[in-house]
Amino acid sequence: MVEQVTAAPSRNAASAAGPVLSRPKRLREVEGGEESRLPLPIHEFSRVLGGGVVPGSIVLIGGDPGIGKSTLLLQASWILAGASGPVLYVSGEESERQMKMRAVRISEGMSGGEPESSSSSAGKSGGAAAFPESLFLVTETRLDAILEHVQALSPRILIIDSIQTVYLPELTSSAGSVSQVRECAARLQTLAKSSGMAVFLIGHVTKEGVLAGPRVLEHIVDTVLYLEGDRFQSYRLLRAVKNRFGAVAEVGVFEMRGDGLAEVSNPSEAFLAERAAQSPGSAIAVVMEGTRPLLIEIQGLTSPAAYGTPRRTPNGVDLYRLLLISAVLTRRAGLRVAEEDIFLNVVGGIRIDEPAADLAMAVAIASSMKDRPVAADLVLIGEIGLSGELRAVSQTNARLREAAALGFRRAIVPKTVRRGEGPPKGIEIIPCRSLREAIASALVPHE
Ligand code: TYD
Ligand code: MG
Repeated sequence: MVEQVTAAPSRNAASAAGPVLSRPKRLREVEGGEESRLPLPIHEFSRVLGGGVVPGSIVLIGGDPGIGKSTLLLQASWILAGASGPVLYVSGEESERQMKMRAVRISEGMSGGEPESSSSSAGKSGGAAAFPESLFLVTETRLDAILEHVQALSPRILIIDSIQTVYLPELTSSAGSVSQVRECAARLQTLAKSSGMAVFLIGHVTKEGVLAGPRVLEHIVDTVLYLEGDRFQSYRLLRAVKNRFGAVAEVGVFEMRGDGLAEVSNPSEAFLAERAAQSPGSAIAVVMEGTRPLLIEIQGLTSPAAYGTPRRTPNGVDLYRLLLISAVLTRRAGLRVAEEDIFLNVVGGIRIDEPAADLAMAVAIASSMKDRPVAADLVLIGEIGLSGELRAVSQTNARLREAAALGFRRAIVPKTVRRGEGPPKGIEIIPCRSLREAIASALVPHE
């Protein structure tokens, strides 16, 4: 339960409203079409935004703490400050010195990889790029103070790191509470729309998505991006889950390095390179997280049970699901797992509730049992029925598009998939009726 305190309505209503400025227009009179965008030469970022930064828009970037949100936005600020004009980076979490330290780290990367990034800024020297003239930093948490800074500086772009730390003193609730976050975002949105300044809000999300913040904000802002990845691995995915100015299926891939986030412009290569050294017992599932498809590696390991009842040890999936899959493997696919201990692990600490990952789980176990790896460019999509049949899952095409975008070239899907839209380009579909058939097609033959 979260207490919500509403602000005294009197002052708000009078001062914020002002005279009526809007006027209905005929559709054909509305000037139109494409918004003019500020170019952002970080292509993976720009593509996810829909092709650049839209003036007057408000973008929320969510993600777990420590995933690299501040790094990504500092890099973007750096480039935008050079190309488009003043950028104000407001941090409620770090001092200016700390931000400077991060900037020093990323300065190495700013000059090297992207020649166009610093082309319009004045001085370029040797290894590290020169700090851009019009990038301003401030540590502040009071929204009224932030708005004053904006007045004084009139930046083209404002970054708020993070929305959970800013607050309006006139509301009695604490920073990060639902009412603070919502009210602050609403004020910033009004400002963005009236001034044409683009605003980026950073928001923290906990694993369960429980934090009062981003969820409340999703309908206020124009664009919602998530930066995701395993903190202990270097890849980061930037994903659009809502975008008024572009497609939502877009994914940008980055790698966290010593000098900031580097674009991975060919994710297929990157992902497949890691899978090349694959050993048996690993398969790729495509699960939906809300509306978002996510590719996840599933690992299975079987080992002869010493005595007594063989153990079934799931990590990241339901025990019941694992028991069911083991039973189907034994009875319908002719795999002698009854005498084996089975371990099943979802890589990256993610939890899967979806039956669509059944096939990948079963194949990971079969792969370990038969000691034959799964083909490296293959994803597996499908629910397993009790008679060993593969059953269609929802949103197959969204899953396939994601797999294709991440460089996978083949997919095993249930044969029952209805031919409506037709599968997306760039990925070969291998329809299978049964688990037995799928295992035969998925595993690489012995030499
Ligand atoms: P940060 O951007 O502070 O994450 P967030 O704002 O999402 O909380 O950075 C997170 C991690 O990235 C931090 O643990 C240090 C690491 N990092 C690098 O590996 N290389 C770098 O160049 C930078 C700036 C950070
Ligand atoms: Mg941060």
